[in-house]
Amino acid sequence: MKHNSICILGGTGFVGKYIASRLVSSGKHVRILTRNRNNHRDLLVLPNLELVEADVFDTSQLETHIKGMDAVINLIGILNERQHNGDGFRKAHVELPKSILGACLKLNIPRIIHMSALNADANLGPSFYLRTKGEGENALHTFSSGRLAVTSFRPSVIFGPGDSFLNRFAMLLKIIPFFFPLASANARFAPVYVGDVADRFVQALDDKSTFGKHYDLCGPEEYSLKQLVEYTATTLGLKKHVIGLPDFISKIQAYTLEWFPGKPFSIDNYKSLKVDSVCQQSAHEPTSMDMIVPSYLGNDNRQTEYDALRKIARRL
Ligand SMILES: NC(=O)c1ccc[n+]([C@@H]2O[C@H](COP(=O)([O-])OP(=O)(O)OC[C@H]3O[C@@H](n4cnc5c(N)ncnc54)[C@H](OP(=O)(O)O)[C@@H]3O)[C@@H](O)[C@H]2O)c1
Repeated sequence: MKHNSICILGGTGFVGKYIASRLVSSGKHVRILTRNRNNHRDLLVLPNLELVEADVFDTSQLETHIKGMDAVINLIGILNERQHNGDGFRKAHVELPKSILGACLKLNIPRIIHMSALNADANLGPSFYLRTKGEGENALHTFSSGRLAVTSFRPSVIFGPGDSFLNRFAMLLKIIPFFFPLASANARFAPVYVGDVADRFVQALDDKSTFGKHYDLCGPEEYSLKQLVEYTATTLGLKKHVIGLPDFISKIQAYTLEWFPGKPFSIDNYKSLKVDSVCQQSAHEPTSMDMIVPSYLGNDNRQTEYDALRKIARRL
């Protein structure tokens, strides 16, 4: 079966924009649910895209807006919660997927593609983030059957124009003079390009061989966090000395910043970094950081695939 109309939850975010732009350019009809339509009106220049304001945690609103669609893509995820007890993570990563599942079963929607995270594990995850991501993923797959096919993707950190990871370090490197103190500097990552992630979502949509499967997604190279920050500094042409903080100071920093507005680094982030975000399998996504990062880091005139599509749409 071809899935032609797709509802995306979290489609206004970094990854969602890439997936949405690829879906509309392959002729699919896309409906994105958002908490604030006005903030994302620029997405409306994409052809065949609807932007609908909704509270996805309200089951009746969720059902109203996914009714009649062929597939649901769930990208909603948080790195930090307002609380400190895991309730925010459980709501976003466990209750929401369960409610999407219930709504899809009730409305006979046959396809869900779900964004989890590398190392998500309901039992062994060291942080609320990773445990709840694992629990939500498990809940969806328990019901994956002939009637409803679920595929989950589990990426390492994702890079590309508009990412918050490298761009955040870039911003900090520009304002912190000479020495850059870095918590959890030895944590390892295999950064994966957002375009490769979006390709995998779009290809999986109608591909039966992906039904019921979980896929770890990693880029072709591994880096420690320290190497990633050094890479960012070098790309920006900044001479900075990155100093990895001892573990106990990283922990103190996490316990302190946990209470800062916006939680720039939290205890839960610190715990997530205790497990390396690298893949065990040998197949990796093709695009390296060298191929993409220099074109956007520190470049105010960032040209994303989505921006390019906007230009095309204006000409239509
Ligand atoms: N970026 C990475 O490096 C990375 C790595 C591994 C896994 N992931 C996972 O990939 C997914 C997408 O990541 P992303 O970087 O694109 O995230 P993002 O830019 O933060 O976008 C997520 C979107 O979800 C919606 N959202 C966020 N919190 C919400 C909440 N509490 N209630 C309702 N809606 C909420 C927001 O849409 P509105 O504001 O329009 O409602 C937001 O645009 C997430 O599940 C994330 O955990 C990301």
